[in-house]
Amino acid sequence: TPILRSAYQPLAYTVATVDLDFHLDPKATQVTSRLQCVRNEDAPAGPIVLFGDTLELVSLTIDGAAPADGQLRHTDSGLEIDVSADSVALEIVTRIDPSANLTLSGLYQSRGGFFTQCEAEGFRRITYFPDRPDVMARFTVRLEADAATCPVLLSNGNLLETGALPNGRHFARWEDPFLKPSYLFALVAADLKALERKVDTMSGREVLLQVWVEARDLDRVSHAMDSLVHSLRWDEEVFGLELDLDRFMIVAVSDFNMGAMENKGLNIFNTKYVLANPDTGTDLDFENVESVVAHEYFHNWTGNRVTCRDWFQLTLKEGLTVFRDQQFTADMMARASDSPAAAASARAVTRIANVRGLRAGQFPEDAGPMAHPIRPDSYQEINNFYTATVYQKGAEVIRMLLTLLGREGFRNGMDLYFSYHDGQAVTCDDFVGCMAEANGVDLDLFMRWYSQAGTPHLKAEGAWDAAAGSYTLTLSQHTPPTAGQPDKLPLHIPVAVGLIGPDGADLPLVLAGEAGPGDTTRVLELKEASRSWTFTGLSAEPVPSLLRGFSAPVILDIAESDERLAFRMAFDADPFNRWDAGQRYMERVILALAADAAAGRPLEVPQAFGHAFRALLIDDSLDAAFVAEALALPSEAYLLDRLQPADPAPLRAALIHLTRALGLAMKADFLSRYLDLEVDGEYRYHPLDAGKRALRNQCLRYLTAAGSATAIDLATKQFEHAGNMTERYGALAALVQSDAPARVGALEAFHQRYMGDALVLDKWFQLQAGAWRWSDAAPDTLAQVQALMANPAFSLSNPNKVYALLGGYFKANPAEFHRADGAGYAFWAEQVIALDRNNPQVASRMARALEGWRKFTPEIQARIRPALEKVAATEGISPDVAEIVGKALS
Ligand code: ARG
Ligand code: ZN
Repeated sequence: TPILRSAYQPLAYTVATVDLDFHLDPKATQVTSRLQCVRNEDAPAGPIVLFGDTLELVSLTIDGAAPADGQLRHTDSGLEIDVSADSVALEIVTRIDPSANLTLSGLYQSRGGFFTQCEAEGFRRITYFPDRPDVMARFTVRLEADAATCPVLLSNGNLLETGALPNGRHFARWEDPFLKPSYLFALVAADLKALERKVDTMSGREVLLQVWVEARDLDRVSHAMDSLVHSLRWDEEVFGLELDLDRFMIVAVSDFNMGAMENKGLNIFNTKYVLANPDTGTDLDFENVESVVAHEYFHNWTGNRVTCRDWFQLTLKEGLTVFRDQQFTADMMARASDSPAAAASARAVTRIANVRGLRAGQFPEDAGPMAHPIRPDSYQEINNFYTATVYQKGAEVIRMLLTLLGREGFRNGMDLYFSYHDGQAVTCDDFVGCMAEANGVDLDLFMRWYSQAGTPHLKAEGAWDAAAGSYTLTLSQHTPPTAGQPDKLPLHIPVAVGLIGPDGADLPLVLAGEAGPGDTTRVLELKEASRSWTFTGLSAEPVPSLLRGFSAPVILDIAESDERLAFRMAFDADPFNRWDAGQRYMERVILALAADAAAGRPLEVPQAFGHAFRALLIDDSLDAAFVAEALALPSEAYLLDRLQPADPAPLRAALIHLTRALGLAMKADFLSRYLDLEVDGEYRYHPLDAGKRALRNQCLRYLTAAGSATAIDLATKQFEHAGNMTERYGALAALVQSDAPARVGALEAFHQRYMGDALVLDKWFQLQAGAWRWSDAAPDTLAQVQALMANPAFSLSNPNKVYALLGGYFKANPAEFHRADGAGYAFWAEQVIALDRNNPQVASRMARALEGWRKFTPEIQARIRPALEKVAATEGISPDVAEIVGKALS
């Protein structure tokens, strides 16, 4: 039964103070919780409601006494207690078994230590509590554990006291001075070491920063610490937001369902997003660590100080915080630039990566059975709604507010938001209301972005009037129906527009009736189904450049000739659109090749496309990171959705053909860029160096795809002499797709070198699951994946391993997964069912690989259906997986 946003009711009793006492033991941890429950005057009368999930209740007293007959009731979701006083003290003792908790939600064990994950509803797996984000309380915590196995005892806030106890045990007491909801509670008891740094905040307070990891990983934490310091400074400088605690801790854990968690003062991270050094982490890993550290740190204000009233409001904190981390990353990328143009290009590279992710991950979600608005109206399992829509599209919606209100207006809105709502649990309406009030604007129409699902199509048509020297641009919008939302209304869409003159330079924009000269990029606000704008004072027909910087999360439909795309690839002054022109051209070429492949026609790459591509490849005045993005094809996931009906095999044939043909035709150019781009000196994570390495690896990919012995030789040498993981991994990725004998040797050498290193082995698993061959050889990837599951380093109970190997196969390798005999689907069903017995969240993420099954050809759908039905019919399937397969089949 779905939970509805419209059903929100405040609880009759909230909690003022929580005092927790943990006696940590792997099999029998005892938790004593003392709650001061207080009547909520804003809510209708009712009992105290406490949620509990898989708990053993040892005892419960009300104001020190046993409950009277009938006063305490057990319900499906926990307990209800009838009381008449306005303030009541509860003491609740529960017992839990962390060693048996494989869901990684609540209190669990990882490598001998104890860790928690409480968002969204994990706290109720620790003790009975009104486990909702609108219940904010003051927490104190006492932990005791075995001193030898768990020498470090951490919880939120400030450390009050530590001490030794009999029987080799010890304890610590912590106090969090800020009100917080239970989902932000955390504890850690483990054998860890910290890298520490002290810094002064903007008001001159000294704060202690710690990154806690296993001792063997201490040589991989300095980058996370640097990232934390950069984040702290950035939030001070850009938003005037300061760290509010004396101590801020990051803890790395090997078994973690998601990326990381923003628990107050005690962020808990998947090791993948903390640990990185030159030998083990690629440039992308360094970038990811920096952005996830920033994301969790930024949550301290957007999420913790101001939190969500209910889980339907998740994008209030997630969309806003993703937006903030994306802005941060763009600033970090631009920090090394020596000119405004270089900075714009560096920022565009971040924007490109964000949009690539949105198109590959969120657009398909919006087009399938899980489509939902960034603020959903209903859910069956909240864990299924930590989605690309809530996060990435949510960030796009915030970015549109910035575009509409300007830097200063946006900042004023943020300031007002904190001044009104600090310490509160609020809604998306509250946030947008502050943006509107601070700027004196009406954002009612804009709110439709919060309630309407689906990716809007923006259609653009231009009309040139030579006699009048004017150009009329007509923009129309249309959002296709989504599950449960058949009729769509027009949205408020900011469209950043430029007009390019015949010489390639931007023209000043003057709208009819205005005095010139205007800016070269202007934001048009489309609020209706269709509207026209006329630009005047033009001497020749301009080329429009629309949606600059990707100013709205829409699909732009515009009839552009190949020549026009090539022109914009060469001249568009907006670096994002320059890249996007290339992507659009590539998409056109690939879809045509795929159609030819499906029809059994010979494949041929249009010469004009080759010329436009080569012009970017050989332009060494461009930033290398930008060129690397410009040469990368659109993602397979995005392209699959653009093919109707979707058919992975001919698409793959098209991608292979295009990559090989370009590599072959431009061998000399790829080779000379490859040789010129070598980065000398010791590895440093730096945007300029990373850009060169990215372009170099991109060149190597095209060269090895073309299959010459020289290319294999280059890749082998790069693999053997690499001074860092970016080069080593780039070479391995190139070799893995070749048939050369060097392939096997490189895979073995990599495995040998990193045998004891879980995170690096994830790369090795993922690479093999996601690989194909450039040649016509047909490797049995499924058999390979199954064989790798037997590798001693693989484990179905470690999420990172599952995401790397199974996720690599189900999600990153469509042509192999959707093999014609349907064996991929049977394997999928088997693994989803097996995962679901222990960890529904991970199972559900894998289950989602088939949710978009209706986009495929009828033959493919017919092969997928039985697998979906098998999972749906499995007895005891979790609500998580049931929601995904249920929606897919309905
Ligand atoms: N709030 C975390 C973050 O985005 C994610 C936690 C997700 N947890 C979950 N059970 N789905 O930073
Ligand atoms: Zn987040």
